[in-house]
Formats: sequence, structure tokens, C-alpha cells
Amino acid sequence: MSEKIFIAVAWPYANGGLHLGQIAGAYLPPDIFARYHRTKGNEVLMVSGSDQHGTPITIKAEQEGKSPGEIAARYHQQFLESWQKLGISFDLFTTTGTENHARVTQDIFLTLLDRGYIFKDTLSQAYCPNCQRFLADRYIEGTCPHCSSAGARGDQCEACGKQLNPAELIEPQCRLCGTTPVFRDTEHFFLKLSAFNDDLLQWVKTRTHWRPNVLNFSTRYLEEGLKDRAITRDIDWGVAVPIDGFEGKRIYVWFEAVIGYLSAAKEWAALHGDGEKWREFWQNSDARSYYFIGKDNIPFHTLIWPAMLMGYGDNLNLPYDVPANEFLTIENRKLSTSQNWAVWLLDYLDRYDPDPLRYLLSINMPETSDTDFSWREFVRRNNDELVATYGNLVHRVLTFVYRNFNESVPEPDELDDQDNKILSVAKKALETVDRLLYGCHFREAVRTAMALAQGANRYLDDKSPWKAIKENRQAAANSLYVTLQVIAQLKTMLYPFLPFSSQKLHEYLGFTGSVESQGWKWQELPPGQKLLPPQPLFSKLDDSLVEEETKKLGQPPL
Ligand code: MF3
Ligand code: ZN
Repeated sequence: MSEKIFIAVAWPYANGGLHLGQIAGAYLPPDIFARYHRTKGNEVLMVSGSDQHGTPITIKAEQEGKSPGEIAARYHQQFLESWQKLGISFDLFTTTGTENHARVTQDIFLTLLDRGYIFKDTLSQAYCPNCQRFLADRYIEGTCPHCSSAGARGDQCEACGKQLNPAELIEPQCRLCGTTPVFRDTEHFFLKLSAFNDDLLQWVKTRTHWRPNVLNFSTRYLEEGLKDRAITRDIDWGVAVPIDGFEGKRIYVWFEAVIGYLSAAKEWAALHGDGEKWREFWQNSDARSYYFIGKDNIPFHTLIWPAMLMGYGDNLNLPYDVPANEFLTIENRKLSTSQNWAVWLLDYLDRYDPDPLRYLLSINMPETSDTDFSWREFVRRNNDELVATYGNLVHRVLTFVYRNFNESVPEPDELDDQDNKILSVAKKALETVDRLLYGCHFREAVRTAMALAQGANRYLDDKSPWKAIKENRQAAANSLYVTLQVIAQLKTMLYPFLPFSSQKLHEYLGFTGSVESQGWKWQELPPGQKLLPPQPLFSKLDDSLVEEETKKLGQPPL
């Protein structure tokens, strides 16, 4: 029976382009997972969108003298272009600026209020008497009380990385006008997280399949005890608070952004002509939901969003898994967008193909610890692994068969032990990759597939059909037939990682339609099947790009 898989992907702030840290952490893994499940014949719904509210967007807008809406629209377009070029196959990538999202958010807000899980209270908050506005944490700057660096923000000091609250800053200033803020009382709504602590703890204890870092982190948080949190702000950019007297305030970005997972599913359903279809993924206890995020987002997805869902009721599924990733460093240094110590996805895609990047980030995925991206490693893995191992295996077999066997799959006779051995290794690899992908072990999965490609190369070298053909054409036919069978399986198991090259290979092998629709099963490549004229799947990269690209790191963008 087909399974229902809801794939929820972190909503990127629409205040800048995407960099490789985000891709490795939150965007490539769900795409691999979605492609795998679709190939298995399961029903997948993969959604996300631009997170267009919050101070990250308003600060960017002020810097550029644009409206927040203009900034959000610009980066939303860039995101769409990025997904298309990198092959991230969302079923819907929307934004938090839709009317649908506001409606769903306000419904959840009012329901939680009605049930007593949201309450009103007074808060003392920084206010700029000159700008006549309350200042969000990021709008206050001062000297860090821990490391004495200037320019620490009210929420965090970038220099030492410590979390702060605005009252701790030494000589605080309004970042817009430099005036010293005063503290004033203001009314806000709070989410009663403390009411969910026990239920969350019990629930988290049942999530034994979670990655250890996610499970431990969440448990620790709950053992310390969740505190109630303000979920409205004194700002004018965001989802309106549906309560009289709160016209000048907005719902806090984190409270509404996580609701995007539900509102996007509803939007998708409406767009597909059946407004109720979201229920199959949300209210069906057989459906499973996976939330793909970076580690900095863990508490919002394992604690706060589940608490909101518990409080809201309506039988909505809690997250089944939250396979959060660790961080990607760049050339062994912490990625920093403000210092431009980052590799920007669209810059990469202007110069290079998507699959080599997908490959490198998969085989080096920061699943259980931080991993490093370096241009040297990129070139090495492209040249040694994609070109020399996998690509070369495919290309020498396809071109040789194409030329010497009438452009079609050779007819084998009796297979020998060595033939049967590599076929059974391939069968086993297909099962192993299946199991690993099912459990979100992406790195191990791609390593397993590449090990098979290496094994097939050794087999082929042993059999050397280009020599054998001179004395014994049938022997050459057998080994080529066998290698082609292995290649047909590699195409399937590498498809989630390398969708562009797998689809090409699928066609060179004489198949039609998509890899996905052919399914995740042993692909028999029948003798006599016509091949298409093959092209190399990958191309060699020049070593000189290492220096050229590395030099750009930390430089101001052109
Ligand atoms: N915009 C946030 C970030 O980039 C992530 C939000 S995930 C969501 O860190 F679920 F809350 F939307
Ligand atoms: Zn000011």
C-alpha cells in the first residue's frame, strides 16, 4: 500500500539569497527524501515558502530604502529560480504573505485564546523616544556585556555568539537614530508553553527514532521547563492580531511561520481542486510528517509547534521526525553571511552543474556533526568520483556497446560466478540504499551507491570486454550485459541525489518516461533494448578553479 509522506521544509527568510549552508542543512535533504518516496510509489506532499515577516526583512528593507514587501518579493523570485535550477522539487513553495496563511494563523490564534492557551499580559520593552516606536531586540545595539565588543544586538552578540536580552547591553542605542531607549510597558499575548511541558515530555520520550542530537536537545529543554512566550510584537509588518485594540501590533514571526506548514498544505489542496485533500496528510494517523531544518531551528519544531498543535486539537498529526542537520563550515571556517564567508547558490549555479554540488553536499552531509565544504574537495570528488568512477563506468560501457553491439543491449548466454556475484551485490545495494533513505541516512545511502559503482568498475576491469571481444564475442557480451544491469540499478539508487544525470542515463539506456515513474525496483534491461547515443554524464573540472573560487571568500560581493 502506498504511504503518505508530508515533507515540511524550513521557510527561508526572504532577506537574502541562499547559501550552501542552508542547502546542505535544510533544502537538499528533503528533496532527496521526496524523490526517493515518489520513486517508491508513495504519495508525497512537500511544502515550504518564503518567511517574509520579522526583523530580518524589515532591517534589510530599511538598509535599502525599500518596502519590506519589495524585499520579500525579490528574494521569493530568487528562491523559485534556485529550486528550479538545483532541482528542489517542491509541490508548493508559497509565502507567509498570503491571505490564506493569515486566515489559518488567526484561526489558530483565536482557538488557542479560546482554550486558555494564549493569555494577555504586560511587558516592559525598549522604546525609542525619538523614533516613537518600540524596538525589537535586533533594533537595539550596544556593547556586549560578555566580550565588550561594540555593535552587539539586543538578541545576540555576533562577536562572541552569546544570546542576550536588550536590558543586558551596555550603553544601548536605537539602531535607527542612536538615541538611548527607555523601557515602557506594553500589552502582549503570550503562549502558555508551560501548560504543555508534561505532555511534550511524554511525547518526546516516544520519539526514539529521532536523531540523538535532536532528541537530547529537546529533552533537556523540557527537563528545564518551558517558559511562556510573548507571541505578539509592536511592529506593523506581519500577520494582524485579530483582536480589537491590537491594530498596531502583529503576530510574532515565529508563531506564524511554523503555521505555514499547515496553511501551505491547505493552499496546495485548494490549488489542486480539492480543498479537503490536505486532511490526508494531516489528519490521517497513517500519514507521517518529516520536518527538515537546520539545528538552530530545533526547539520551534520539536516543542513550540507541537505544543501549538496539541492545543489546537482537530486531530492534526504531530511531527513524526525532525531530522535536523548540523552546520556546514566553509574552508574550515564558520559560515558568515555578513562577512561574505559563504558560497552563494546562484553564483555556483551560474558556473557549474547542479548534480556535482548535490553529490558533494550529500556525501558530506552534516547529519551527525558539522562538516566542511571546500572547493578542493568539490573538484576532487567531481573528478575522482563522479567523472572517474561513476561517469567513466557508464560512459565506457555505453559507448562500447553502442558501437560494437548494434546500439543495443547484448544478448547473454550462461552467466558465470563473477557475473552472478556482482548482480547480487547490486541487488543488495538497492535494498540497503532503500533502507537507509527510508530512515533519512542520506550520507550512508550515497556512499553505498558509490561503493557499488566502484565494485562494478573492478568487475569490468577484470572482464575487460574490449580485449575479450577479439577472441570471444560472447564473453564480452555477457560482461557488458551484466554491467549494464548494474548501471540500470545505479541510475535508480542515485536518482534522489543526482536527478539530472539519472534522468539522462535513463534515456541513454533506452527507457522512456521518468525515473520516478519507473519505480524503485530491480530494473531489468532486456537484451536487444535499443540504446540512445550516449554523452558523458559529468565533466572534469580544472584545478585552477580552486584558487579562483577560494579567493572570493570573505571579499565584498561584486
Ligand atoms: N525563517 C527561519 C530561518 O530562516 C526558519 C523558519 S522555519 C518555520 O531560520 F517553520 F518557522 F517557518
Ligand atoms: Zn530611534
